[in-house]
Amino acid sequence: MLLTSDRLRLRPWREDEAERIATARTNQATAHFLPFIPQPFTAADVRFWLGDLAEQAAAGTRFNWCVADAETDLGLGNLTLFRMEQGGGELGYWLHPDAQGRGVIVEALELVAHWFFAPDGRGGQRLAIKTASTNRAARRTAELAGFRLLRTEPDMYTLANGRDALVVYERTAQVDSGS
Ligand SMILES: CC(C)(COP(=O)(O)OP(=O)(O)OC[C@H]1O[C@@H](n2cnc3c(N)ncnc32)[C@H](O)[C@@H]1OP(=O)(O)O)[C@@H](O)C(=O)NCCC(=O)NCCS
Repeated sequence: MLLTSDRLRLRPWREDEAERIATARTNQATAHFLPFIPQPFTAADVRFWLGDLAEQAAAGTRFNWCVADAETDLGLGNLTLFRMEQGGGELGYWLHPDAQGRGVIVEALELVAHWFFAPDGRGGQRLAIKTASTNRAARRTAELAGFRLLRTEPDMYTLANGRDALVVYERTAQVDSGS
C-alpha cells in the first residue's frame, strides 16, 4: 500500500537500504526503550527483519512502510501496523536520527490513520500506540497525530534497566469522521 503526501512517500524498504536501517536502529533511545532489538543492529539483523516483514505482509498480518522523502526518496524512518484484529490495529515507529525534529512521523501517522479509517481504505475502527510512560518523544508524536491517552498500566513496560508504566493511546474512526 503506497501512501503519499507532498513531503513523504510511504513505500516498502529496499535491500540496498540495509546500512541506513542498521544505523537508524543502533542508538541509545532504541537500546533503552526497545531492549528486545539487538544492539548494534547489524546488516544481518536487517536482512532477517526484512525477511520477517515480507512473510508477515504475505500473510496479511502486518503492513510496514519505509517513510521516505518524496523528493529524494531517502528512507527517513519506519512505520508499522500490526495486531489487526476486529477493526483495530497498533502502530509502532522510529526515525533515523538525521530525520528527527521536523514532524516527519506525525505526518506519516496522519497518512496511515487517514487510509486505515477510510471506508475505501482499510475501513478500520480503532488505532492504538503503546509506549513507555517516560518516552516523551513517542507520546508527544502520538498526541500531535490526534491520539488520546486511553489508559496507563503501572509497571507493564520493560525498559533496558527496569520497568515503567505502559501508556496506551487511541484514535478512533468516530473522531476521524467528526461525529
Ligand atoms: C519517536 C520519534 C519517531 C519522534 O520523532 P521526532 O522527529 O523526534 O519528533 P518531532 O520532532 O516530530 O517532535 C514531535 C514532538 O515531540 C517532542 N519531542 C521530540 N523528542 C522529544 C524528547 N526527547 N523529549 C520531549 N519531547 C520530545 C517535540 O518537541 C515535538 O513536540 P512540540 O511540537 O510540542 O514541540 C523519535 O524520537 C524516535 O525515533 N525515537 C526512537 C524510537 C521510539 O521510541 N519509537 C516509539 C515507539 S512507539
